[in-house]
Amino acid sequence: MKRQRTSFANTALPVVAAFFLSMTLSGQQASLVINTDQGEHIISRHIYGHFSEHLGHCIYGGFWVGKDSSIPNTNGIRNDVVDALRKIDIPNLRWPGGCFADEYHWMDGIGPASERPKMVNTHWGGVTEDNSFGTHEFMDLCEQLGTEPYICGNLGSGTVKEMSQWVEYLNFDGISPMADLRRLNGREEPWGVRFWGIGNENWGCGGHMTAEFYADQYRRFATYCRNYGRNRLYRIAGGANSEDLNWTETLMKNIPHNLMDGISLHYYTTNWRDKGSATEFGEELYFDILRRCLSIERTLDRHITIMDQYDPVGRIGLIFDEWGTWYDVEPGTNPGFLFQQNTLRDAFVAALTLNYLNERCERIEMANIAQTINVLQALIFTKDKEMLVTPTYHVFDLYKEHHDALLLPQVLDTPEYSYNGRSLPAISVSSSKSENEQVNISIVNIDPNRKVEMEIELRGGDYGKVTGNILTAPATNSHNTFEKKDVVKPVTLEDVRIRKNRIELVVPAKSIIQLKVTG
Ligand code: AHR
Repeated sequence: MKRQRTSFANTALPVVAAFFLSMTLSGQQASLVINTDQGEHIISRHIYGHFSEHLGHCIYGGFWVGKDSSIPNTNGIRNDVVDALRKIDIPNLRWPGGCFADEYHWMDGIGPASERPKMVNTHWGGVTEDNSFGTHEFMDLCEQLGTEPYICGNLGSGTVKEMSQWVEYLNFDGISPMADLRRLNGREEPWGVRFWGIGNENWGCGGHMTAEFYADQYRRFATYCRNYGRNRLYRIAGGANSEDLNWTETLMKNIPHNLMDGISLHYYTTNWRDKGSATEFGEELYFDILRRCLSIERTLDRHITIMDQYDPVGRIGLIFDEWGTWYDVEPGTNPGFLFQQNTLRDAFVAALTLNYLNERCERIEMANIAQTINVLQALIFTKDKEMLVTPTYHVFDLYKEHHDALLLPQVLDTPEYSYNGRSLPAISVSSSKSENEQVNISIVNIDPNRKVEMEIELRGGDYGKVTGNILTAPATNSHNTFEKKDVVKPVTLEDVRIRKNRIELVVPAKSIIQLKVTG
């Protein structure tokens, strides 16, 4: 399998090479060459997917306020949230978990809301879940958002029959017990759900299984998740935690490939031993988080190498369905609700991660940031009637140009961002070409202190117009609050020129730039 890579300078730099490279650059300069008439692989829009778990205020108070709420809603779903997410074209939404998925019994969440049984959400704060948001509400949410559902079924504590019936309920068009039940509950047409997860983190909260045991269970569950009509399920095996290569290898070896379309992987950018504050950090912790983010590249490559070995034709997709930063919860909030602020530092983690994913789009078919609203690296915060969007939201807005665009080969020379004797590449870039021939260039300068002068050469086409937007803020811990909602937000980039297919610009310290280049 052939893979596209940027130059070594865009990945983890070997120390010696980085030293000589920096010596050859006068001051802070970077150069980028993009071959706009080349490229083989499409960046699936599903890499820009999202995740909504029954956790804290992601669903309740986030997406869902109920039909009787005074907060403007459509069938109980917040209008402001739907509007904001429609603006960034979210391609898919994963639900109902996470760890919650493996203790969720879907039949508790259908039928008249007042008759639905309650349960304890043991993973997330021990709160009572009243099941008022269930299958029909989630599918309505996806329809309002214009997004594809990605449902994660319960393998950990559920049965093969239960999961099989859920698929039938959602997707069967004819006469059957489950299709009839769906009609009884008010939905005539099947929804035709495609993305189907078979368990979540089954090495941990999803049942503490061994890889071998999970692979055997997967074979049973996947067999009975049937295709109905023309709908073809895209079945996703619950994947590994970060560096657990044995998990990926065992699944690739033990699960027949005709039973599996994707295999998931989770990686959180955090220091598990001391997660630290989302907002109170100095340069050392800033550097540390970005260093940890950079190691996503290595983690992805190690899992992809295993997949390449067992699936050289690339039939099975890598599904990076939980990623993002994970800090201590905000003081005074429920520790089980995982609510954290979101700063410019998080915007960098989002932008870098998306660059890494774009670059590996040949194998990576989907990804889901954790999580959409009020949980972990959220895009949106809600507080009663109020809503705000975070710096991470703005990255997804800027980067939406890459959805279903052709990944372009590029060669990047970047200076280093050094702190306390250690270095990271200062600049990271991702380039693509949309169907309408527009070239999209995302540029990230993580150096909080130094600007970078950049020259971009576009080869293989004639380009005469460039526009751009820039996301930056006074400090790396700048963030939006309900009192000041627009501290971090993108503005038009004024100072960018193109002449004879060469773009010149200054990339300010701690900034993210999105360029659109046309003929
Ligand atoms: O996103 C929060 C939790 O992190 C998910 O429920 C679980 O899958 C992961 O450990």
